[in-house]
Amino acid sequence: MAVRAVLKMGHPLLFERAREVERFGTAELDALLADMLDTMEALDGAGLAAPQIGVSLRVVVFGLKRNPRYPEAEEVPYTVLINPLIRALDEALEDGWEGCLSVPGMRGLVPRHRRINYRGQDQYGTPIDRDVAGFHARVVQHECDHLDGVLYPMRVTDLRNFGFTEVLFPGQAPPEE
Ligand code: NI
Repeated sequence: MAVRAVLKMGHPLLFERAREVERFGTAELDALLADMLDTMEALDGAGLAAPQIGVSLRVVVFGLKRNPRYPEAEEVPYTVLINPLIRALDEALEDGWEGCLSVPGMRGLVPRHRRINYRGQDQYGTPIDRDVAGFHARVVQHECDHLDGVLYPMRVTDLRNFGFTEVLFPGQAPPEE
C-alpha cells in the first residue's frame, strides 16, 4: 500500500461533511485503511481521518503506544472506526494541546468533553461501543470532527493558545492527529 499526501488546512475538502460508509469488507475499504495506517505511521501521527487523504468517507483510524516523546499521552488502542457517533457522558470539559497532520508544525489548546461514549463499526461492520476518557476521548473527538469539516484551530477558544510547535514545546510536542 502507500503513504498518501495529507491535505493541509485551506483545502476545501477538509471543510466538507464526509459520507457514510455503506459497504464493509470491500477491497476499496481495505485499500483505503491500509493507506491510512501507512500514512499515519510514516508521519508518526496518533490518528488520521479519511478526508485528510482526500477521501470523503466517515472513516477514522487512531492509536498511540506509550512513547517517551509524549510522556503525558496515555496509550490508546489501535482502532478503525467507521460511521462514528459520539455522545458526551457528562458536562465536564478539559483543555488539552492538540496538533493535526493537516496543520503541520502548529499546536493549539482545545476544550473537549472529558468522558464520551463512542459507537460505530470496524472494517468488517462489527459494532464498536466504548466509554472512554482523557486522551483517548480527545483523539476520537478530534478525528470525528474531521468528518464534519471541523479542524481543531476552529475550536481554539483563545488564539494566544495557538502557535508554532517549536516555540510552544521545544523538544517535546504532543502528537499530531
Ligand atoms: Ni487532525
